[in-house]
Amino acid sequence: MTAGSVLVTGGCGYIGSFTALALLQADYKVVIIDNLYNSAPEAINRIETLCGKRPDFYSVDITDEAAIDKVFKEHPDIDSVIHFAALKAVGESGEIPLDYYRVNVYGSLCLLRSMQRNNVTNIVFSSSATVYGDATRFPDMIPIPEHCPLGATNTYGRTKVGVEDMIRDHIKAERNRAKKEGKDESLYNGALLRYFNPAGAHPSGIMGEDPAGVPYNLLPLLAQVAVGKREKLLVFGDDYDSKDGTAIRDYIHILDLAAGHLLALNHLRAHKPGCKAWNLGTGKGSTVFEMIKAFSHAVGRDLPYEVAGRRDGDVLNLTANPTLANEELGWKAQRTLEDACEDLWRWTENNPQGYRQQPPGDLVKR
Ligand code: NAD
Ligand code: WQD
Repeated sequence: MTAGSVLVTGGCGYIGSFTALALLQADYKVVIIDNLYNSAPEAINRIETLCGKRPDFYSVDITDEAAIDKVFKEHPDIDSVIHFAALKAVGESGEIPLDYYRVNVYGSLCLLRSMQRNNVTNIVFSSSATVYGDATRFPDMIPIPEHCPLGATNTYGRTKVGVEDMIRDHIKAERNRAKKEGKDESLYNGALLRYFNPAGAHPSGIMGEDPAGVPYNLLPLLAQVAVGKREKLLVFGDDYDSKDGTAIRDYIHILDLAAGHLLALNHLRAHKPGCKAWNLGTGKGSTVFEMIKAFSHAVGRDLPYEVAGRRDGDVLNLTANPTLANEELGWKAQRTLEDACEDLWRWTENNPQGYRQQPPGDLVKR
């Protein structure tokens, strides 16, 4: 099957930019829409530097249906969308829930309506392990399989559960309608990708995560400690029921995560499975202390930390059972935690100001 054209929403962001790169490397044509709320257009230059191809870019808000329509009209060859554009800070989502529902849920609705009007039938959606909530309430569900009951414990997670439901219902309805009209129902497909904890950067050191404002996640915070932007890391709780008392997460290298999107898209286009959820994780859990040790090793010195109380809403263990993605998508995480830490450190050292600072020339050539 030939590669086609894909619309990537939020394609200037962390996971979106790596996925755009993987798609271009696999000979897909890529059109990005992003309002640059949490990203910089420099990401597009870095994609081009790494693969020699440049995605088309439109500054479009995901809640602007007319603008999305216009992009589809200009690119009638697009048959699939990978939908990343969203707000993603768990803490903030409880403070400004209406913004989260507007961008994440209403934005997804606008996108689906525009896809429907423009006969774009495949969607790969950025869901999250957060949809499982506290899976430790089902002890036989660790590592977590896709059939684990969902139970988001925060506003952000509830927007993801809501959009998963919306996509499932929409694809079912589109298939029913196509069948009634004697058309090909198998064209309508969705992949709900539940990512665990994305980590790392491009091994070249020129592409990585560049969040606006204060980071929320463990590794970007540790990176700030390493470059002296932050005095120490606060460890949120050492009284969990784990081997060292700190919470367990499944950290997955960003290149592996991007490859998962490519394989999910290929699977939708080749096998037309309807709408399905897949976990993207390594299956291996690491504690916060193990992460501090691994990142300190990459940096070459011990990084300061202090144990604080548990963070509201945190759970003991979020580790994926990735068997379904292994078997059905042919996807398996290849890179180690050490790779992720080394790559993150290279990116951080080379780009202390993120994309606001141009990389040294020799790095671009690598
Ligand atoms: P990111 O913030 O780097 O990327 C999101 C992109 O969407 C940004 O470029 C941002 O500018 C854009 N965007 C935000 N609001 C928009 C709007 N109204 N219109 C158009 N574009 C808009 O985040 P990321 O880490 O790359 O996450 C991508 C997706 O993956 C999100 O849907 C997120 O919820 C999901 N996800 C992220 C993680 C994680 O830990 N990073 C884990 C699981 C799921
Ligand atoms: C990892 C571990 C913290 C910061 C979040 C979202 C999830 C997904 C990924 C989007 C936890 C501990 C953290 C710090 C710490 N995102 N920690 N000190 O919470 O697993 O997942 O990002 O979908 O939905 O909830 O990731 O990186 O914030 O935390 O001790 O300063 O590090 O308690 O155990 P989390 P994280």
